Formats: sequence, structure tokens, C-alpha cells
Amino acid sequence: MRIVLVGPPGAGKGTQATRLAEKLRIPHISTGDLFRANISRQTELGKLAKSYMDAGNLVPDEVTIAMAKDRMEQPDAEGGFLLDGFPRNVSQAEALDELLTTEGITLDAVLDLEAPEEEVVKRIAGRRICRKDSAHVFHATYSPPKQDGVCDICGGELYQRDDDSEETVRTRLEVYHTQTEPIIDYYKAQGLVVTISAMGAVDEVTGRALEALKREQ
Ligand code: AP5
Ligand code: ZN
Repeated sequence: MRIVLVGPPGAGKGTQATRLAEKLRIPHISTGDLFRANISRQTELGKLAKSYMDAGNLVPDEVTIAMAKDRMEQPDAEGGFLLDGFPRNVSQAEALDELLTTEGITLDAVLDLEAPEEEVVKRIAGRRICRKDSAHVFHATYSPPKQDGVCDICGGELYQRDDDSEETVRTRLEVYHTQTEPIIDYYKAQGLVVTISAMGAVDEVTGRALEALKREQ
């Protein structure tokens, strides 16, 4: 399947994408994770992306689209993929459509995770991520690690993202409403959008997502 995951920052896109990708046997492609990997390797792309990310703004389309395209063209993405955090505005959605048309393929669904603002703010404030593997995500209250600051899965150090400060989160939410939400209408016009609630336990949301996607196959 070829799926786009959309939803406000902190809705649980990364958490769900890891689980859904495993169940559906498709790679999880997160532009946020790709940027963070570039930042930790201190590449030129990482240096450029960091200044935008720390302010809560979108990284320019040109570099983002090139990076996403390059990742989607890797052999493991031939049979399908789950895009998390891309596209993030209408021009990225148009660029993705162009790319898919060139390849003669189409999207199967756009999964829209809905969560109220007060909940996403709480989820972001407590988020802790593993330095060794960004798929190892914890929450100080909702899913605390057994030992404070240490990843249960691999023993790596847990840290808080630089862009998870209260002020930056406000900007990220604003950017989501003004720039990203319009892609939901863009995809509604193509009949691709399935909206589910992101509230409840992680497993419950995964079950809801799988049910919704089954209807789209
Ligand atoms: P990105 O990394 O994509 O961040 P985001 O969209 O802001 O989303 P988050 O990662 O904050 O949240 P999430 O929805 O994945 O939630 P998570 O699963 O972690 O982007 C970061 C930046 O990169 C952007 O601001 C931009 O600068 C740049 N960027 C990326 N893509 C770009 C693009 N295409 N174009 C331009 N710029 C781009 O969950 C959050 C917390 O909640 C965790 O602690 C988790 O444990 C907990 N949690 C999850 N589900 C539940 C649940 N059901 N119950 C309780 N707790 C839960
Ligand atoms: Zn870990």
C-alpha cells in the first residue's frame, strides 16, 4: 500500500507509523526523522534544516522534496510506503502527485489522525526519544521508561527534542493549521482521506487505523 499519514504535531504519527509499517510490511518514511539523522551526522542538509526546525517552520520545499524523492526511490519502497510528515503543504502534495504519475503509481489512502490541541500539547511536552533509534519513543507520563532517561529497548540515552519547547510548539501548530491542513482538502478532492480519532491507547489507535485502511484497499 502507499499511504500518507497526516495530523498535528504530537498526534502520534511517528508512534502509529512504526506499528503500521511493520504490520503492512512497508517502509516508514519520515521526513522529520531523515532531517534529524542529517542533523546528527552534521551534514550540510542537516545544518540548513536545523535552523528551520528549531524555529518550528517548514524546511524549504526544494530540499525537502529532493530528499523525500530520493528516499522513495530506494528499492525497499518499490512495493509501497508509509509517508509520515510529507507532504506538508499543497506544493509538496503536487510534487508528490507528479512523481507518482511519472512512476505510474497512485496513493491508496491518506490517513488523517485527529487529536485536540490540549492533548497534542501534553503528548509533546512529555515525549522522550532514544538517541540510538528515533523509533524508540517514550512519554514521561503515558509510557514512561523503566529507568529514568534510559531506553527500555536498547539502553540508549533518552532526550527531549529541541523543537519541543513550548514556544516552538505554538509555531508548529500554527504552521500545521495554515500550511498542512489544506492538503486534507486537496486529498479529499481525490477521495483519498480517511479520518480517525488519535485519542485512546496506542494499540486502540493502531486497531482503528488498520480497520480504516482495510476499507481503502
Ligand atoms: P516531524 O518530525 O514530522 O514532527 P511533527 O509533525 O511536528 O510531529 P511530531 O514528531 O512532533 O509528532 P508525532 O505526531 O509523530 O507524535 P509521536 O508519535 O512522536 O517534523 C519536525 C520538523 O521537521 C517540522 O517542524 C519541520 O521543520 C521539519 N519537517 C519535517 N517534514 C517536513 C516537510 N515535509 N516539509 C518541510 N519541513 C519538514 O507522539 C508524541 C508523544 O505522544 C510521544 O511521547 C508518544 O509516546 C505519545 N503518544 C503517542 N500516541 C499516544 C497515545 N495514543 N496515548 C498517549 N500518548 C501517546
Ligand atoms: Zn533505544
